[in-house]
Amino acid sequence: MIIENTIKDLSSILYVINDAAIKYKGVIPDDCWHEPYMLEEELVNEFDSGVRMFGYNKNNKLVGVMGIQELKDVTLIRHAYTLTNYQGMGIGKSLLQYLFKLNKSSYLLVGTWQDAAWAIQFYEKFGFIRHTKKQTAQLLNKYWEISSKQIENSVVLEKHTPL
Ligand SMILES: CC(C)(COP(=O)(O)OP(=O)(O)OC[C@H]1O[C@@H](n2cnc3c(N)ncnc32)[C@H](O)[C@@H]1OP(=O)(O)O)[C@@H](O)C(=O)NCCC(=O)NCCS
Repeated sequence: MIIENTIKDLSSILYVINDAAIKYKGVIPDDCWHEPYMLEEELVNEFDSGVRMFGYNKNNKLVGVMGIQELKDVTLIRHAYTLTNYQGMGIGKSLLQYLFKLNKSSYLLVGTWQDAAWAIQFYEKFGFIRHTKKQTAQLLNKYWEISSKQIENSVVLEKHTPL
């Protein structure tokens, strides 16, 4: 049910991301919201930067995606999205647990919008601990390439895993 997606799957991955991201509308700052939320060239850049995307398929339809990016001394969880109509059914959990097994680093980080309470709760449920505002800004500057506006409005959570 979970397989690695490739650049050939761009349009179906984008479909999932842009459908799920509608949840951010009216929650994150208006000037950070745009529709579609992710453009094709942004996703191509993510693949080029070494992000590996995994997809959860149900009846041959891609319904959830989650990425992993190994960087220096950490692994980042990237782009976690489940189609709106499939949220709350265990798909995100399956993808995250799949990535936990695949991961070779003992230090996992994930970043999300500070107002996306559901996403923070989702990661906390799986043992991620929230960083302070100061640590968040340091980590985002070190490991992510995002705007200062996004940094101001984000939170980073971390999880240490025994290898
Ligand atoms: C966050 C997201 C990826 C989770 O995926 P999902 O498939 O809905 O999650 P699951 O159904 O596997 O839920 C796993 C656990 O997280 C918890 N959880 C999921 N959504 C939640 C929510 N909205 N509020 C509180 N807890 C939630 C559930 O309680 C569940 O625990 P359980 O198995 O004990 O019931 C998905 O809801 C989503 O795409 N949201 C919109 C985009 C987003 O915020 N992405 C995060 C980007 S970093």
